[in-house]
Amino acid sequence: MFPTHRPRRLRSHPQLRRMVRENVVTTSDFIYPLFAVPGEGVANEVKSMPGVYQLSVDKIVEEAKEVYGLGIPSIILFGIPEGKDDDATGAWHDCGIVQKATEAVKKAVPDLIVAVDTCLCEYTPHGHCGYLEVGDLTGRVLNDPTLELLKKTAVSQANAGADIIAPSGMMDGFVGAIRSGLDDASFENIPIMSYAAKYASSYYGPFRDVAESAPQFGDRRTYQMDPANGKEAIKEIELDIAEGADMLMVKPALAYMDIIWRVKEASNLPVAAYNVSGEYSMVKAAALNGWVDEEKLVMETMMSFKRSGADLILSYHAKDVARWLKGQ
Ligand code: PBG
Ligand code: ZN
Repeated sequence: MFPTHRPRRLRSHPQLRRMVRENVVTTSDFIYPLFAVPGEGVANEVKSMPGVYQLSVDKIVEEAKEVYGLGIPSIILFGIPEGKDDDATGAWHDCGIVQKATEAVKKAVPDLIVAVDTCLCEYTPHGHCGYLEVGDLTGRVLNDPTLELLKKTAVSQANAGADIIAPSGMMDGFVGAIRSGLDDASFENIPIMSYAAKYASSYYGPFRDVAESAPQFGDRRTYQMDPANGKEAIKEIELDIAEGADMLMVKPALAYMDIIWRVKEASNLPVAAYNVSGEYSMVKAAALNGWVDEEKLVMETMMSFKRSGADLILSYHAKDVARWLKGQ
């Protein structure tokens, strides 16, 4: 009780605060998302995400070198294909855009860990994460047939040199299907980072501009989770763990920190938080208007993810964070 206890004693000096700090943000915590498009010399900045670009493979390689130079250990690749079709050919074709970008990055920067998003929404004309029944206008993706395409996609990504497979479509059984596909192709050492607890969120809006992956009708609520549910996240991660997931992801991050905490408590796997596009764009908009101190606000947010139990953070702020941590 006061006056015996005065918590302010340990806050009285910057060095003292440093000594008793419970959490730390380091460059090693980050995975930086990149978007590959066909062409050469292409760098299209996306209106709704200032500082984020669609990049052709040559530019992705430049970017990968910069990211590695900043000390960030990993990128995650998304792709915008030349064309879209119902079989999502661009996702699993050996000459797909993500496969090409992966090969090029691994050749130029072999020590940069390349994670790849394994989903179909960027590659289907309707923008849903798998097969739809003919005539379906609601977006109720057919689960089991979609698993076959995801398997094929993961194997071709692994063939291209991907270090981590990150399936994001929230199909039931997708971790198990991909694990068996990878194992059958002798990729038993390639880990799976499952988007285990991924919510149907409005925070994905700007991402869909960059990835050109907005559903053309319906929405993703028949496969992504209901924001009202917390316990269900635990059920999802238990299934993914049983199916062989190596890492778990919670997405979005900021409005779902309770879920990050619960997932960390409930599992012994590394937990990643995806600080998604809408979270990024809101901060950017405020910062560009001079309404907030961008560096302080972003660093506080990143620290909050660590405090919530995240081991890894996927963030569009990653390069800025790396620079700030270096004092640049
Ligand atoms: C879809 C996918 C989404 C994101 C990554 N992969 C969401 C969606 O469109 O449903 C969102 C990432 C972000 O908002 O930054 N498989
Ligand atoms: Zn998808």
